[in-house]
Amino acid sequence: MQIYLDHSATTPPCPAAIARMQQVMTEQWGNPSSLHAWGERSAMVVEQSRMQVASLINASPDAIFFTSGGTESDNLAILGVTQHYARPRHLIISSVEHSAISEPARKLETQGWQVTRLPVDAQGQVNPADLQAALQPDTVLVSIIYGQSEVGTLQPIEELGQLVRSHGALFHTDAVQVAGRLPLDVSALPVDLVSLSSHKLYGPQGAGALYVRSGVELVPLFGGGGQEFRLRSGTQAVPSIAGFGTAAALAAEQMPTETPRLIHLRDRLFDQLANEPMLLPTGDRQHRLPHHVSFCLRDLDEHQFNGRALVRQMHLAGIGISAGSACHSGKSVPSPILLAMGLSDRRAQSGIRLTLGHSTTAADIDWTAMVLKQILARSRTTTENAYPLLTSTR
Ligand SMILES: Cc1ncc(COP(=O)(O)O)c(C=O)c1O
Repeated sequence: MQIYLDHSATTPPCPAAIARMQQVMTEQWGNPSSLHAWGERSAMVVEQSRMQVASLINASPDAIFFTSGGTESDNLAILGVTQHYARPRHLIISSVEHSAISEPARKLETQGWQVTRLPVDAQGQVNPADLQAALQPDTVLVSIIYGQSEVGTLQPIEELGQLVRSHGALFHTDAVQVAGRLPLDVSALPVDLVSLSSHKLYGPQGAGALYVRSGVELVPLFGGGGQEFRLRSGTQAVPSIAGFGTAAALAAEQMPTETPRLIHLRDRLFDQLANEPMLLPTGDRQHRLPHHVSFCLRDLDEHQFNGRALVRQMHLAGIGISAGSACHSGKSVPSPILLAMGLSDRRAQSGIRLTLGHSTTAADIDWTAMVLKQILARSRTTTENAYPLLTSTR
């Protein structure tokens, strides 16, 4: 038996979303822009999904714009706002953003924009006082990730948003990891733009949405047919959007029971690994994504493994987890997120993340904790990375 604990990377599409997509591909496959019956049927699917996604975050349906996923939504928010300005201005992001924010911000810097990257504390949280101090008369946009995907930390979005609003700038948050797991109410939150992704909430890959508060104007990323109210050209991916809508509706329905269940399992895993001498929890324990458990390795030396090697060992034991650091030319590179949180280069190469989901049971948690401890115990008695294959009995 295999255990999938990488739900922050992607979630398996739920059966209802798969059934809906199959139905749409069979019966409602028209181009939603066409003026005939086939087009009309397909346009109705898109509008129903728009209502379902809007309802998940308590938005008006006409504030939801479908995209290809979280990456496009993030790029559209950052570039869509900033491209309005003929001359470069000031942009604020945090130092723990997903690359879908940090990369476009870097690109803007090459075009003369001033970009401030707010520091975070050892738990990965932004201090609102730092945001207050960074705001300038020419700050036009602030973008802060809501739930950090690598270390699970939630930001004080309401407080940060209030500061931005009082200043008169626009506020974007990447809520890709939060949507469907925690209540998100854009009518109450001081946010102007919110990124969402279908495949993080049991919908299909390749669909996402950007919430855009009424009155906020964005420059489109693509030229073309002017779909999605002229903001996102390209024929909509109707089956994927349909699956996204179904998954969003289910997530809203299941959240009251599923979120406390995940929090319970998350804490059970943290508790079971609390005394493991090689593991150092990362991220904020209190302000935390409900499904997210993360560590780095405490005592690395020349012969011991990094996060990626540990992920590999878990894989050999039938358990799918992920590492925070990337690999370039065969060498592990420290995670910029862990570095921003003040960890050493060494520790920043050893991040691991275990993210739970619908299928995760208490038995999965207990088995995973046991296997992880066993791998780490062997690493302490072995000087090479060649660990005997663990045999799974489940
Ligand atoms: C916080 C965050 N933002 C953006 C993305 C990108 O989303 P997508 O895979 O839908 O492009 C991810 C995906 O890992 C994410 O975790």
